[in-house]
Amino acid sequence: MFRTHTCGELRLSDSGKEVTLAGWVQRLRKMGGMTFVDLRDRYGITQLVFNEENNAALCEQANHLGREYVIQVKGIVNERSNKNKNIPTGDIEIIVNELNVLNTALTPPFTIEDNTDGGDDLRMKFRYLDLRRNAVRKNLELRHRMTMEVRRYLDSKGFLEIETPMLVGSTPEGARDFVVPSRMNPGQFYALPQSPQTLKQLLMVSGMDRYFQIVKCFRDEDLRADRQPEFTQIDCEMSFVEQEDIIETFEGMAKHLFKELRGVELTEPFLRMPWAEAMKYYGSDKPDLRFGMKFVELMDILKGHGFSVFDNAAYIGGICARGAAHYTRKQLDQLTDFVKRPQIGAKGMVYARVEADGNVKSSVDKFYTQEVLQQMKAAFDAQPGDLILILSGDDAMKTRKQLCELRLEMGNQLGLRDKNKFACLWVVDFPMFEWSEEEGRLMAMHHPFTHPKDEDIPLLDTDPAAVRADAYDMVVNGVEVGGGSIRIHDSQLQAKMFEILGFTPERAQEQFGFLMNAFKYGAPPHGGLAYGLDRWVSLFAGLDSIRDCIAFPKNNSGRDVMLDAPAALEQKQLDELCLKVDLKEK
Ligand code: AMO
Repeated sequence: MFRTHTCGELRLSDSGKEVTLAGWVQRLRKMGGMTFVDLRDRYGITQLVFNEENNAALCEQANHLGREYVIQVKGIVNERSNKNKNIPTGDIEIIVNELNVLNTALTPPFTIEDNTDGGDDLRMKFRYLDLRRNAVRKNLELRHRMTMEVRRYLDSKGFLEIETPMLVGSTPEGARDFVVPSRMNPGQFYALPQSPQTLKQLLMVSGMDRYFQIVKCFRDEDLRADRQPEFTQIDCEMSFVEQEDIIETFEGMAKHLFKELRGVELTEPFLRMPWAEAMKYYGSDKPDLRFGMKFVELMDILKGHGFSVFDNAAYIGGICARGAAHYTRKQLDQLTDFVKRPQIGAKGMVYARVEADGNVKSSVDKFYTQEVLQQMKAAFDAQPGDLILILSGDDAMKTRKQLCELRLEMGNQLGLRDKNKFACLWVVDFPMFEWSEEEGRLMAMHHPFTHPKDEDIPLLDTDPAAVRADAYDMVVNGVEVGGGSIRIHDSQLQAKMFEILGFTPERAQEQFGFLMNAFKYGAPPHGGLAYGLDRWVSLFAGLDSIRDCIAFPKNNSGRDVMLDAPAALEQKQLDELCLKVDLKEK
């Protein structure tokens, strides 16, 4: 037997037992004639003691151990005189009488500690060592428990877990595909699925009724803290349902996860906010509702007083940061620099403080009378000590997005985005289409299979941009943790949708004929949703990026620095695939 116990298991009640442990050498300390070794495995740390007086040769052997050596020891559990209250095994130690070195180890390139000295790149290159650290391992444990709870919940609701293929066809809508050349079909390519969307809809046509899959999805898009090129969805679909049924089922799942994994009981129904409201008051389709600072529109109050920036604006709006009037000129200049950063793109920021006597002092006082400033104060219901921050611009949507960034930044600066607080909501009534500057046409906001709201169907012919969809996202703390919709199950309506999206009937048939034809064989009304597993785990683990809840993530340039992928192919492989690489353009 390699071990009788793990390194996290032994307690005072085990005193006197003869045990065998195995693990990694975390740390070694010599004190007088004693050598202490912290032995670590996934379960914890146990202190080993080698006593020169009892066994000089054994102690000498221990003194030659290096960090991260893999060892096995036999010994007796002993009550510690100097107890360590910080670890569960801190009351005991093992008086070792036999030591086997199972493997030596090079000195790791960074310390395997909670607060490691390793930078991001180094930790990613040696990810297998990084995963030995508690902090990272804990996230994978949480991820495991989450998938177990997801399966338990969905199984109890009658969902079937069904796998769909990873080698599928490329589709023109959505993000860019990762493609895979086919040797047996020269010059042809598979694509890795961006999501199993159409396949799960086909499963509904098959009568599977309730499907789910914990599934890898692949999207070749620019990366951010909450985006990886391959990520995992909890993908679900249901037949004979309306939006309300889906919301109920998956709100139930979210509450189940909160309870089982975070010990948080959420009893109230989640807030529902129409998309238009989210954009108007928070400048985002994923508002962080852990704090207020709702936007207030100021066009009526501030336009037309001779301040040309506002006079020429199509939108003027602001937020009120409660109790932040103490912000210094320097802090306000920094905030101005923040909104002027190219990623945000505002031209400037106007501020106003409500002073102790109720008077408002603003950075544009010379254009406004106190009376106007008081009207503005009233619009925010601002009190003495509050700080009002205002942005304006010639494009309302763009300016709202800038104000959204400012709101989030103020939330951070004022400590209002507490990771242990959760604000969940459904954003509903998304527009069906959005205009794409790049493509010069309307694109599906969610995807082309989304059902328009029944009452908006007549607008498809007259004003498609005004059509709202039966689509919904779940947002927690400003993160879109999931989204879905009721689907079109009528082949004619689906064909119309492709027409609005600029597909010729031939091209629609070529790309999506399999789905539209399937709909002709008795497709039930259906709908579904996909949760982002990585986002849920990182939210529950309080992480800033989803990277640390993925065992082997990609870096910001989409590289796996450990595997050194992607990489060039050998000529022989390229020849087999009939591929020629031409980097001239790049
Ligand atoms: P959507 O594209 O909204 O919907 O994706 C569903 C959820 O997946 C997560 N997600 C991501 N997580 C990490 N990295 C990414 N690059 C990434 N992209 C998306 C998000 C998101 O809410 N087929 C539809 C679902 C449906 O309609 O049923 C779909 O894929 O949490």
